[in-house]
Amino acid sequence: MSMEVTAWHSLYQATHANDDRRPFSRATLRRIGAFARPHRRPLLLFIALSTVVAVTAVATPLLAGRVVNAIDRHAHQSTVLGLAGLIAAIAVAEAALGLLTRRLSANIGEGLILDLRTAVFDHVQRMPVAFFTRTRTGALVSRLNNDVIGAQRAFSDTLSGVVSNAVTLLLTFVVMVGISWRITLLALVILPVFLLPARRVGRRLAGLRREAAAHNAAMGTRMTERFSAPGATLVKLFGRPAEESAEFAARARRVRDIGVRTAMVQVSFVTALTLVSALALALVYGLGGYYALRGSLDPGAVVSLALLLTRLYAPLTALAGARVEVMSALVSFERVFEVLDLKPLITEKPDARRVPDGPVSVEFDHVDFGYPSADKVSLASLEEVAQLDTRGGVQVLHQVSFRAEPGQMVALVGSSGAGKSTIAQLLPRLYDTDAGAVRMSGVDVRDLTAASLRETLGMVTQDGHLFHDTIRANLLLARPGATEDELWEVLRRARLDGLIASLADGLDTVVGERGYRLSGGERQRLTIARLLLARPRVVILDEATAHLDSTSEAAVQEALAEALDGRTAVVIAHRLSTVRAADLILVVEDGRIVERGTHHALLAAEGRYAELYRTQFETQEPGDPDEPDEPGEPRETAGVLG
Ligand SMILES: Nc1ncnc2c1ncn2[C@@H]1O[C@H](COP(=O)(O)OP(=O)(O)OP(=O)(O)O)[C@@H](O)[C@H]1O
Ligand SMILES: [Mg+2]
Repeated sequence: MSMEVTAWHSLYQATHANDDRRPFSRATLRRIGAFARPHRRPLLLFIALSTVVAVTAVATPLLAGRVVNAIDRHAHQSTVLGLAGLIAAIAVAEAALGLLTRRLSANIGEGLILDLRTAVFDHVQRMPVAFFTRTRTGALVSRLNNDVIGAQRAFSDTLSGVVSNAVTLLLTFVVMVGISWRITLLALVILPVFLLPARRVGRRLAGLRREAAAHNAAMGTRMTERFSAPGATLVKLFGRPAEESAEFAARARRVRDIGVRTAMVQVSFVTALTLVSALALALVYGLGGYYALRGSLDPGAVVSLALLLTRLYAPLTALAGARVEVMSALVSFERVFEVLDLKPLITEKPDARRVPDGPVSVEFDHVDFGYPSADKVSLASLEEVAQLDTRGGVQVLHQVSFRAEPGQMVALVGSSGAGKSTIAQLLPRLYDTDAGAVRMSGVDVRDLTAASLRETLGMVTQDGHLFHDTIRANLLLARPGATEDELWEVLRRARLDGLIASLADGLDTVVGERGYRLSGGERQRLTIARLLLARPRVVILDEATAHLDSTSEAAVQEALAEALDGRTAVVIAHRLSTVRAADLILVVEDGRIVERGTHHALLAAEGRYAELYRTQFETQEPGDPDEPDEPGEPRETAGVLG
């Protein structure tokens, strides 16, 4: 009865049925059809071959009956041998067909996984940053893995299983009725005995499965969150490891209990089935034997009926479970489509153009902006909240206007949370403005190609992210074709060459999760080296030197000064000493530009900038190299930024 076990096992494993009674829209089915279309030919071939297999399955019991009759009637030896040869031939054909159909279904199923996976990956990659700031990574990864596999099951296992099982069932039934309708009907009377509980058992299993899936997902997101370098650090500093372990163990124990429960439900059902079909078999032998003795039935017919009956129950059971299976596969499809249907808010126009050659000017023209509300950018199920926040985003920027001429440096200063990083993020189009426009060399960034924007702009972000990869790979991200010499050159300019040369693996040292194996300042200098390697025409530095001590800051300032030479730059800094040389300083407060001018002009104006500047230097220790000789009259230091 291995088929039942397989059917129920796959049923148990399809872990994502949300509601097996939910109706599915025609649109969903049409879309599934669209995904299946490229696999149409192998699918049709598969169905055809499955039908042939079903026919051979009926042939053998019939031939066996003939053998018995031949023996009974003392027929010629050659008849028996011929029949045996035929049975052997069918067995060989069946084996070959079995291999072929399995090959086909594996191809279709795995091909479908491939299509869905690449489609989801491509799509998610095109989603705006806003989406990723809301989504839980664990939940998203589970869509790419579990749901894609769940959707595939609809094709390779269920759909095909349904076709071949239905054909087998029908053929077997017809042949059995042909042999003896009375025995067939009696044998099948027992059917409802297990078809009725099948539904109940199916629902019971679906419920258990859903609960286990929820626990597994919760454990998964917890692990991805806690077992990252920053997460683990946080738990060590503030967490309560004992409670965390206890909660985790409680869930894990519940999953164990559900596993045991599921196994018992399954095995009870399968055992009951086996018993019922064994009883039906006894009935066939008893009744068939009775008829045979009375001469109204051949002994061969009795044997054929018995053999056919054993082949009847397997497809019946599989079909009984198919409904729930199909439903859970459809649920997986819907969950995948749900991700595919998310609109990538930021898209490239079909007629998008490139940034004009030569030095680039940057312009903000009356820009209003608010971070998009959750319902625009994400899915409740991926945020793991019941309902998405529909509140419109709070407006963060108000009428921001400024212009950086080619080669100029514009500095943004202001309190924390004022909106400086937000302004910076609008340039590479990580977000789009709500009103007004951001332009590069006079072209609205929304009219530019993504590739051209990437080439033109280089950005060092506030958190300086690195991939869990080698130093070399992290650098090459900026320019895949860079030579070894160019790599060392930028490292030298970022004052990192000494450190990296001293590492045993040099450039091939793995920086660890998010670069956690480097110090904050080293990480930052590496992101600066990456920027230097990219040689962008426009540079955005968001607190690029925040983590550096005064000595390395001066060194990196020189490097940056070189990098910024002839380039347009937007620089954000809390340390005002770093922005003195800017062509234009913008003071941002509450999302508005409240003051603008050069360092000296702003100091003379005695406004917010002068106030910020004084408070910064008054709080500094005497002897700090940043401290001006006289308050309000800063000493000039080397470097464009210094
Ligand atoms: N992804 C986001 N979604 C929603 N609101 C955000 C998001 N990022 C920032 N904000 C909000 O926007 C406002 C401006 O943030 P921003 O990061 O631009 O400040 P900042 O001037 O760079 O501050 P800091 O000097 O601390 O880096 C803040 O009120 C912040 O809470
Ligand atoms: Mg910031």
